[in-house]
Amino acid sequence: MTPAEGQGGSRLSRRRMLGFGGASLLVGAAAGVGIERVASATDDGKQATASAIPFYGPHQAGIATPVQDRLHFAAFDVVTDDRAKLVRMLKDWTAAAAAMTAGKPVGAGAVGGPDVSPPDDTGEALGLPPSRLTLTVGFGPTLFEKDGKDRFGIKAKRPAALVDLPQFPGDRLDPNRCGGDIVVQACADDPQVAVHAIRNLARIGFGVVAVRWSQLGFGKTSSTTPDAQTPRNMFGFKDGTRNVAGTETSALDKHIWADKADGSDWMAGGTYLVARRIRMHIETWDRTSLGEQQDVIGRDKNEGAPIGQKREHDEVDLAKLKPTAHVRLAHPDSNGGVRILRRGYSFTDGSDGLGRLDAGLFFIAFQRDPRTGFIRIQNNLATDAMNEYIQHVGSGVYACPPGVREGGHWGETLFG
Ligand code: HEM
Repeated sequence: MTPAEGQGGSRLSRRRMLGFGGASLLVGAAAGVGIERVASATDDGKQATASAIPFYGPHQAGIATPVQDRLHFAAFDVVTDDRAKLVRMLKDWTAAAAAMTAGKPVGAGAVGGPDVSPPDDTGEALGLPPSRLTLTVGFGPTLFEKDGKDRFGIKAKRPAALVDLPQFPGDRLDPNRCGGDIVVQACADDPQVAVHAIRNLARIGFGVVAVRWSQLGFGKTSSTTPDAQTPRNMFGFKDGTRNVAGTETSALDKHIWADKADGSDWMAGGTYLVARRIRMHIETWDRTSLGEQQDVIGRDKNEGAPIGQKREHDEVDLAKLKPTAHVRLAHPDSNGGVRILRRGYSFTDGSDGLGRLDAGLFFIAFQRDPRTGFIRIQNNLATDAMNEYIQHVGSGVYACPPGVREGGHWGETLFG
């Protein structure tokens, strides 16, 4: 049974599906502390609904929706030239994504099926709430044309805005952390839920796609909810103070959502995702004086106020910041008024063999057009004092189609 077929028969939440027997399994797994909380959640579907972000809608979730705590970002290569197989997989992925974001298992679930075949769902999210899981899909330039080949008959539909990113000064990109034909951004408050989602999509896609590279993120570095406390990045500074908020409808329409008028009908209501794995030289930063750190960013470390001001959300007075301050160079007034929606995460992937943390910012930004968004700002950051402390080592740009209507599927507007 494909996950799409199995979907119709699966009306139970991950938690309810466990029933009484499942609850006792959880008692073993939860080892004491969280048992009561988990058991009562098992009896009450309300909490699950509250932590689910709607999958269907005019825009994909995971962009303007509130930022969750954890990330699993995965870029896939398509390993077949068969368009029908690719579309079939996108349909199966959609059904699985709709189920998982609602807290349900994939297909017929992880348990209770025939002993002779592998279960539809891998099972590690059994008993966990939806955890505000969002799954956001994007298509890379190579899906439209790879090595001069129009594999899927969509070359003519490549949006003008989906340009290959230029080489920026200081880039040290690892080809094994770049590109990909299709990307899926999984965000959730529980890392196990995000990892479960990517794992199941990879499994469903076997023979059609293969994971090219992926990244886990553990701490959000920006916010789409300015009323909430602004998170801090690995440099210890508040990050995301001046971001596009999820409630700023007109700014979203102007700077983030693509429009028919931009030239690609199928992208109307979609957006473009730029991802950069940015290594931060933590040890060097930690030996830098507080005054220097604040000059580099252009804000104070405690409150997050712009230099020369008192409160975090006070207006930035660019003239009071050093000409090389990050905030001054990234500010819309230094970039023709452009705004991007940042939604990145911190990462720490152990150490690098030389005793230094392999840590940094997995930068993710959404924008209506990368040429006037990320590329413009990144070019302006060429003189950023922060460059002494960071290095871009991974990169990708992807066209994220509009949201899915009920009964529709990922890629419908592109392949339909
Ligand atoms: C490791 C790399 C980076 C770090 C640590 C970092 C950190 C920060 C911090 C602390 C702020 C101030 C708080 C805020 O307004 O959000 C900020 C603002 C900002 N950053 Fe970055 N950033 C990094 C890379 C980038 C990149 C690559 C871009 C885009 C090309 C970018 C674009 C922006 C923008 C647009 C703002 C808001 C400026 C404003 O409107 O005042 N940042 N960043």
